[in-house]
Amino acid sequence: MDLFETYRRRTSTSDALNRRAQDLFPGGICHNLRRFDPYPFFATGAEGAHLADADGNRYLDLWMGHYALILGHGFPGVRDAVVRALEGGWHWGVPSEAQVKLAETLRRAVPVLERMRLCTTGTEATMYAVRLARGFTRRPWILKAEGGWHGASTDLSFSVKAPFRGAEGPGLLPAREQGVATIQFNDVDGTARVLAGLRGDVAGIIVEPMIGSGGFVSARPEYLGYLREACDREKAVLIFDEIITGFRFRYGTLADAYGVRPDLTTLGKIVGGGLALGVYGGRADILAAADPLTSRGADRPVLVGGGTFSCNPLTLAAAQATLDALEAGGDGLYQELDARGQRVRRAVEDAFERAGWPAVCTGRGSLFMTHLLRGDDRTLDSPGDIAAKTHVRAKDRELRLALLNRGVFAVHGGGALSAAHGDEEEAFLLDAYERAARDLAGLDLGP
Ligand SMILES: Cc1ncc(COP(=O)(O)O)c(C=O)c1O
Repeated sequence: MDLFETYRRRTSTSDALNRRAQDLFPGGICHNLRRFDPYPFFATGAEGAHLADADGNRYLDLWMGHYALILGHGFPGVRDAVVRALEGGWHWGVPSEAQVKLAETLRRAVPVLERMRLCTTGTEATMYAVRLARGFTRRPWILKAEGGWHGASTDLSFSVKAPFRGAEGPGLLPAREQGVATIQFNDVDGTARVLAGLRGDVAGIIVEPMIGSGGFVSARPEYLGYLREACDREKAVLIFDEIITGFRFRYGTLADAYGVRPDLTTLGKIVGGGLALGVYGGRADILAAADPLTSRGADRPVLVGGGTFSCNPLTLAAAQATLDALEAGGDGLYQELDARGQRVRRAVEDAFERAGWPAVCTGRGSLFMTHLLRGDDRTLDSPGDIAAKTHVRAKDRELRLALLNRGVFAVHGGGALSAAHGDEEEAFLLDAYERAARDLAGLDLGP
């Protein structure tokens, strides 16, 4: 039976829900990434490393809420903290000690966050970081990497998907009018050329130290070093978007592991503990430009913030409980996650090799993404490489369905392991990949 037919047979209730959803939401979803062919399964609950759907299927979850849940679904410490916070009412709209304590905790772990603001999404965090860079430098241009996803803000919805040509769709101004130029990740010479072309007009550069949805490709240390030097020379603001990478590989940021100091950092996902939190912050002098007290007078402050639900007490409780658990878990927790991730990446590549599909598993620590190669070239150094050398569509189509039919929910051919993914889950996962790789035999995987 073919992959689609098998999936349809297992998910008839989701099929019906999808029809209702399509009558309500464009595409039937509220986040484009949640849509896949023939239709997504509709969830009813989650626990530990598993998601349940409306047809009673149970999936080993590798998506883990857009990579947010490093401790697993329903982690007791977070659940208890949120339930306790609920007793005090769930939306105050005024400052609280909890927000001070959370920011102090964040700054201890990420010392470059000299000053910060808390918001409710990663999209807001990157949008405000970019505005701060422009407001602080009084310059127009922002450089972003091809394939870099920083949320769908008007500022940054450019060159996200291959073939990386400008605006991601109608409704956005051309990149030039928006003041956005793109650079190729890990390409020092190309980045230098773009900077030279805009000399004196660059407000900042925003990159992920490991490009996330663009392919889980880590920055080469010399590339980040170059970006730091170039921003110092140009007096531009270096922004590291650590919304995926923050607290994923260590208790802190990936930048600190590289030893490169950004001017601004954005966080989200893990730090919210599964509730809605974004963080942006960094150098005190840059954040001072947004201070409504010190920048009174002729000069108006950079407008950042707003957000009816910012510093919501439930979010603060979930975030604090998550950071406390990660700090208590210490290096051991991350070492275990890293070791499991390393084993999984190697075993998945081997499984595809045996099935006759050469594949490369990118990622680091507990993150992995499987790329099915179109030829022999295994160098995947940027989203451009991935677009040129791999079957991009198949990983979220044939491979996704093959894995779902075997009880694993993967996005982009992989995902995020959590502390709830133990030995049993690892064995189940590897068995599912072994079978899914064989299920792809003889299929045309397209571009
Ligand atoms: C690196 C990065 N930045 C920003 C965002 C946007 O975050 P949010 O979806 O919370 O708005 C994402 C989301 O996937 C991301 O991966």
